[in-house]
Amino acid sequence: MSGRDRVTIVEVGPRDGLQNESRVLSTDDKVTLVNRLSEAGFRHIEVSSFVHPKWIPTLADADEVLARITRRPGVTYSALVPNERGLERALSARVDMVNVFMSASESHNRANINKSIVDTYAVLEPVVQGAKAAGLSVRGYVSTAFGCPYEGDVDVSQVVAVSERLLRMGVDELSIGDTIGVAVPTQVTAVVAALQSVLDVSKLALHFHDTRGTAIANIVAGLGSGVTVFDASVGGLGGCPYAPGAAGNVATEDVLYLFDKMGLDTGIERPFVDDVAAWLEERLEKPLPSHARAVRRGQSA
Ligand code: HMG
Ligand code: MG
Repeated sequence: MSGRDRVTIVEVGPRDGLQNESRVLSTDDKVTLVNRLSEAGFRHIEVSSFVHPKWIPTLADADEVLARITRRPGVTYSALVPNERGLERALSARVDMVNVFMSASESHNRANINKSIVDTYAVLEPVVQGAKAAGLSVRGYVSTAFGCPYEGDVDVSQVVAVSERLLRMGVDELSIGDTIGVAVPTQVTAVVAALQSVLDVSKLALHFHDTRGTAIANIVAGLGSGVTVFDASVGGLGGCPYAPGAAGNVATEDVLYLFDKMGLDTGIERPFVDDVAAWLEERLEKPLPSHARAVRRGQSA
């Protein structure tokens, strides 16, 4: 990539971040969080999740959050949708984009959405069709693409097979997830190369959790393979309740630092995001794990 090339950060903190927090933010605070992220310049914010509220109680107020946010023109406000019931709820909440999800490994898929991979295809097909019929675009997550908490290594052919199936359903973008933060850059290069047999790299996003501190290196590997869309979470919030030991997403401020210093254009104001992370620490009453927060805490000590 050359200087001032455009890259996109999809902010997933309000969903992936908050879904795993033991302290539940109030609906007011969630609305403030999304509004402040919109003001910072993000073009795509994953706001919440229309999964079963019993499975993810922290996001049970998805409908209300979507009803109350201030929608800035040009910003895509998306949410996770696991099935047709979730789609109905997401459509009445006027999401701009529907994000379906499943895993590349059988046992994580069962733990996370209570179905086999094959049965999941049958559930997601009408969701993708319904979203398209409503004029919405669809993102498809492929979780455990770099390793599974139950099965260990995941064969790249399984990642390609699940991706291909989602693409055939009509998803517009695939986000390939390192759910438990085990990936390393060489693996990222190999997985992206394998996926290019079924899709153009412009349709690919990468979603790294930072459990072992390899997420930034993995993003650099993704850039080197031509990927321009990366998921991140303000402050490094996050995890997956059905992936034991998974840490937060790579922190948005740290990815922004990387991109800014590499001369890549995100359209996002880094100081705004730093301020959102500081505010979020206060609301959650705990330090957040981003490097940027550690630097700021050090400066004010
Ligand atoms: P299930 O229990 O198998 O659902 O859960 P079911 O279809 O058998 O339905 C049971 C009851 O739930 C029915 O009610 C449904 O109507 C109701 P009843 O008829 O008994 O009264 N129901 C719902 N209610 C509200 N909203 C819905 C809904 N669906 C069914 N959407 C299900 C299956 C998929 C719903 C459940 O397993 C679930 O919600 N799982 C979500 C797990 C989750 O959110 N995990 C975290 C997100 S994934 C992630 O973090 C990874 C990612 O970040 C990428 C990465 O890091 O790799 C994306
Ligand atoms: Mg995730």
